[in-house]
Amino acid sequence: MELLVHEDKAEVAAAVSRRVGGIIDAATDMVTLGLAGGSTPRDAYERMATEIDDWHKVDAWLSDERWVPMDHERCNGAMAAMALMDRVPATFHRPPWDPDLTPEASAAAYDATLHSIHAHKSPDVVLLGIGDDGHTASLFPGTEALEVRDRWFVANHVPQQGEDRLTATYPLLWSAKLLIVMAVGQSKAEALRAALQGQNPAGRIGEGDAAVEWYADREAASLA
Ligand code: 6PG
Repeated sequence: MELLVHEDKAEVAAAVSRRVGGIIDAATDMVTLGLAGGSTPRDAYERMATEIDDWHKVDAWLSDERWVPMDHERCNGAMAAMALMDRVPATFHRPPWDPDLTPEASAAAYDATLHSIHAHKSPDVVLLGIGDDGHTASLFPGTEALEVRDRWFVANHVPQQGEDRLTATYPLLWSAKLLIVMAVGQSKAEALRAALQGQNPAGRIGEGDAAVEWYADREAASLA
């Protein structure tokens, strides 16, 4: 794991945009890019939309999603589309949502999609965030998805959020070439400290083959 500390949220966004742009620009074939949800990545996505070319090489997907309609204000895919994906010629693979679909069926379909875009390769880059409670993607403390080892993407009921989520599992994250985690703000300081000690779900992403780079502002890194 590598911790890269930047002055503030804007510098974190700029650094992540540069890092992802360097990978896409250098690629000689297709690149897969897992996108994080939540609020932290939005600034980075907006920079990536104008600072990176070659988006035609990119198959983008979501490292987790809330079980809400695809245009809902809480929908991670809608946020990523508005900030980035609707502005660039990448292919954006999103988990299906339908009133008649179950989270389990959506996750199973998306698991198949992820395996199809990674038929002969591991995920290139996965962007993640970290919650105050130490979750990443929708791998929340005490939830069943933490234990899944036979699938890449599953539905996960999160009682502490009172909702169903869809999430990448550890096997998917562990198989990636690079995981980039963004942490911004004082509220993330304890979770980041614990993660660097491997003491919460976010801290376990380093247990596989993936290289892990943490991009934090000074506040989030203040206890690291
Ligand atoms: C989600 C995210 C989640 C997020 C953290 C941090 O669906 O909420 O994928 O894992 O990265 O909760 O969220 P913020 O960036 O809003 O602090």
